[in-house]
Amino acid sequence: MNIITANDLSKANMDMELPTTLYAANGHSLFWLGNTDETAFRCNTYLILDQHEAILVDPGSKQYFSQVKQRVSQIMPPEKVSGMVLCHQDPDVAASMTDWLEVNPSMRVFTTPRTQVLLPHYGRSGYPYYDVTENPVYALPSGACLKFVEAPFLHFPGAFVTYDTGARYLFSGDIWAALDLDWTLTVNSFEDHIQKMNLFHLDYMASNLAARGFLKRIENLVIDAILPQHGSILGPQHVAAALVYLRNLRCGTDIIYADIESNNGG
Ligand SMILES: [Fe+2]
Ligand SMILES: [Fe+2]
Repeated sequence: MNIITANDLSKANMDMELPTTLYAANGHSLFWLGNTDETAFRCNTYLILDQHEAILVDPGSKQYFSQVKQRVSQIMPPEKVSGMVLCHQDPDVAASMTDWLEVNPSMRVFTTPRTQVLLPHYGRSGYPYYDVTENPVYALPSGACLKFVEAPFLHFPGAFVTYDTGARYLFSGDIWAALDLDWTLTVNSFEDHIQKMNLFHLDYMASNLAARGFLKRIENLVIDAILPQHGSILGPQHVAAALVYLRNLRCGTDIIYADIESNNGG
């Protein structure tokens, strides 16, 4: 088996009709599954494959369910998908959960209690639920683990990210998401990418305090790549800059209520 790591991300073999391998080593593989939406709000769905475990990360909207399912079928039988990580309940992340539960009713849903309260509104309840807040580490057969870290108010109160210890990749959901019309799988120029992240973060993310609080929670993780739900993947050469970006981010209530802030400050 070919070994693929974060250093290979920038030359990842890209065919929009096929899954793209983002990592492969020691019986542990990560794939980008799409999608091909050409709007600025294009969504990324990923698959973690680890022996009998196959976990979708942010399976996405109903609109792209059949495309994502087809990408899975190019790797493995879709009914063997064992779980899905839903980083929050937004429809661009989670609306296809009911379709996936049709494919395999015993698929386990990995999410936070605040998200879990809302998910049955898509029309299905009683599925196996894994509480990532109570059990923040999930061991995979290869020995790799998924570590779940809550990211309150980035942008949902119960949002969380998933760190894969095998690849040292961070599935970051809407954090470090970017909006653009000239999308590429990986970020080339971080400088150019800032404005694309700003388009999303300034309006969606709660505040600088929320951003810095989250950074504190992940400060001990060694991150080789950041895989957001929208926009390009940030490879190893951009991770440090991405952390600085979030640390300095002024967004949400910092901007909307800037006048109150400055009044408080005297
Ligand atoms: Fe969202
Ligand atoms: Fe999103």
